[in-house]
Amino acid sequence: MDSPPVLKTKYGYFDEAEREYVITHGDTPAPWVNVISNGDYGLIVSQAGGGYSWRTHAGLNRITRWEQDLVRDEWGKFLYLRDAQTGEFWSPSWQPCGHNLEPYRVRHGLGYSVIESTRGDIDSQVTYFVPLQDPCEIWLLRLVNRSEKPRHIQVFSYFEWLLGSAPDWHREFRILFIETRYNALRGALLAGNVMWDIPGERGPHWNRDWPYVAFHSASEPVQGFEGYKRAFLGRHGSPGNPQALHRGSLQGTQGRFGDAIGSLQIDLELPPGKEIEVAFTLGAANNEDQALALLEHYKSLAFVHTALTAARRHWNDLTSELLVETPDSALNLVANGWLPYQAISGRLWGRSAYYQTGGAFGFRDQLQDSLVWLLLGRPEQTRAQIRLHAAHQYQDGIVLHWWHPLAEAGLRSEYSDDLLWLPYVVLRYIDETGDFTCLDEEMPFLDGGSASLGKHCLCALEAALNRRSPRGLPLILKGDWNDGLNAVGAGGRGESIWMAHFLYYLLTRWVELPLLDTETRLRYRNQAEQLYQVTNLDGWDGAWYWRATTDTGELIGSAQNDEGQIYLNAQTWAVLSGMATPERAAQALQAARQRLYQPYGPLLLAPAYTQPDPKIGYLTRYAPGLRENGGVYVHAACWAILAERKVHGVQAAYDLWRSFCPAARGMEPDAYVAEPYVMPGNVDGPLSPSAGRGGWTWYTGSAAWYLRALIEGVLGIDATVDGLRVQAALPDGWDGYRVRRRFRQATYDIQVRRAAPGETPGCTIDEQPWQADVLPILEAGSEHRVKYICR
Ligand code: GLC
Repeated sequence: MDSPPVLKTKYGYFDEAEREYVITHGDTPAPWVNVISNGDYGLIVSQAGGGYSWRTHAGLNRITRWEQDLVRDEWGKFLYLRDAQTGEFWSPSWQPCGHNLEPYRVRHGLGYSVIESTRGDIDSQVTYFVPLQDPCEIWLLRLVNRSEKPRHIQVFSYFEWLLGSAPDWHREFRILFIETRYNALRGALLAGNVMWDIPGERGPHWNRDWPYVAFHSASEPVQGFEGYKRAFLGRHGSPGNPQALHRGSLQGTQGRFGDAIGSLQIDLELPPGKEIEVAFTLGAANNEDQALALLEHYKSLAFVHTALTAARRHWNDLTSELLVETPDSALNLVANGWLPYQAISGRLWGRSAYYQTGGAFGFRDQLQDSLVWLLLGRPEQTRAQIRLHAAHQYQDGIVLHWWHPLAEAGLRSEYSDDLLWLPYVVLRYIDETGDFTCLDEEMPFLDGGSASLGKHCLCALEAALNRRSPRGLPLILKGDWNDGLNAVGAGGRGESIWMAHFLYYLLTRWVELPLLDTETRLRYRNQAEQLYQVTNLDGWDGAWYWRATTDTGELIGSAQNDEGQIYLNAQTWAVLSGMATPERAAQALQAARQRLYQPYGPLLLAPAYTQPDPKIGYLTRYAPGLRENGGVYVHAACWAILAERKVHGVQAAYDLWRSFCPAARGMEPDAYVAEPYVMPGNVDGPLSPSAGRGGWTWYTGSAAWYLRALIEGVLGIDATVDGLRVQAALPDGWDGYRVRRRFRQATYDIQVRRAAPGETPGCTIDEQPWQADVLPILEAGSEHRVKYICR
């Protein structure tokens, strides 16, 4: 059942009950996509039907070809429909040839997307999804003949095989190794590749097989197939106007001697008023037996429907672990479903998008993303991520900046902060679980040997402590969290104030843990104190903290600079780390408010750099206002929400949260441009002619952080070792809110409401009064109603 449209614009609306975003026009201002992954296999589908597929690594193991062109968005895995009587053909999606479909509706949901369109009397609906357990995807096509005549409809599929690392710009070389084979008995196309050019320890580079068998099949008898592009498109043909569709038949090409594609033809008789379903399957199995078994399973429509229901239920159950109800519908819509889904399906599992195609793990990136599991009551998943990252640390504490699964090749980090995210995420894991024994778990190092997780973290802290300038500030090296500051300290002398905040925070928290011996605890206390002194003495610019020094001792993020005078992170983390005194915290945020906050979010720095500065790094090479160069860098903007809450309280935190809420900003879709249902990586700053425009969606660490900034910073619910801490407070205009959250395996249904006149504020748990702001740890499996009455 459709629920009433929420936050409707000329391009679409939210369907709250189904947790879908419904797009009503194919010509959205940018591709509005869905990233669907089961943790191994994944696909992206845009509102136009563009996209690509991969297994395990979207860059090293891309199954289908795609070119990054967000304007044309013309690469995809397509279906065509053809009226066998008239020869008329179209595609049920906007691309490659269906621009005149009306009505047109795309429903992006959690774990699936549906494209619905009508051409004449034929309604079509294509549901794309990835089954939970299998390395494949399904396109479930449903056709309805609304006419009074029987119709003979031919269906053709079409995509290009890649079967290896992307992009394959030297296509004429690549096609020499790919083979397509039609299995007549099974009515399926199989494809393999005998050259996989990936580096790494698991096999030689440029001399190794692609160890999978790709397959493409359908649930109805196959009337024809094509394995060569030339035969399908025709010489100078195009996906929008392929010769095969003019002909109405395929020619049965296959083998090793053409440019490899996959195309199947199905012929359907559609009686008047009737509907029919066909499922197409595309995947990459471990071997031929598995490929044949999978395609056989998914020939059954019943099996397909069961798999679709299971996938939908999975995402629904997972995202329902956290329930947020507030008077702000934009807030509710992103919090309940889309943010956790983006963080998991997009960032942790798919690790790819339209603006950034990827596949690697970033040491700091996916560790931070994995914090989302804590909010969903699944800390074991955060723990698994911790294990994975700890295994990518060397014995000297240094970690890989990123690494490629499959190839197991990576880059030893020369960024100063990467290694510190391990002790950071471990702290948050302990806050959530109270489980100190995690520190004892033995985990391998990348260069051999193993140590307890606690030791891994201490190695990281020690390495960071050792990399400091003569006056004791952390060296920035080839960058810190801000990758683009990659020249500031490349010579090994430049310093980072943000790193000083971060390290200070970690030291002051790690000294509380039972793990440290007395000597180390004392040493860390002294080091923290020393960092505090030097940062506050030297790092304070007068009205805010400066950000860094260069190898030659020049300040970055200081009033002395013409550009890049103030950086957001050096102010927000001064507050979050406890490094700033209350006066300085207020002053630093005041400066940020005056100089960085825009109606559409807080800028990462200002003013933006207008000229490349080789002494600072590639950040200055972005056009002014884009990405980290003075745009709203949304990941960092989330920290400002948490800092605002600490210094100015709930109203300030909420106002800031809302200033870059995509569902709210998306109400002006032509100006905002990006998808309204997921976080953008950045929003253009004031020097861009499109100030306020969102971009680089999906692949951004902001999804997990924005959710955390909401739960902790706005709704005031935070995990601590002692229990769940609730600081109930209401923004103006709210009479209450509710958060249902799992914590230590119990469910806390927290309801906050405003006191009626004369009513005394207070808290009850299951109707019993409770005084402290930390809730007790309740029995595993139990559920409790916590009520707060506040002013
Ligand atoms: C990119 C990187 C991330 C970094 C951020 C800021 O998003 O993936 O690791 O922290 O940019 O520069």
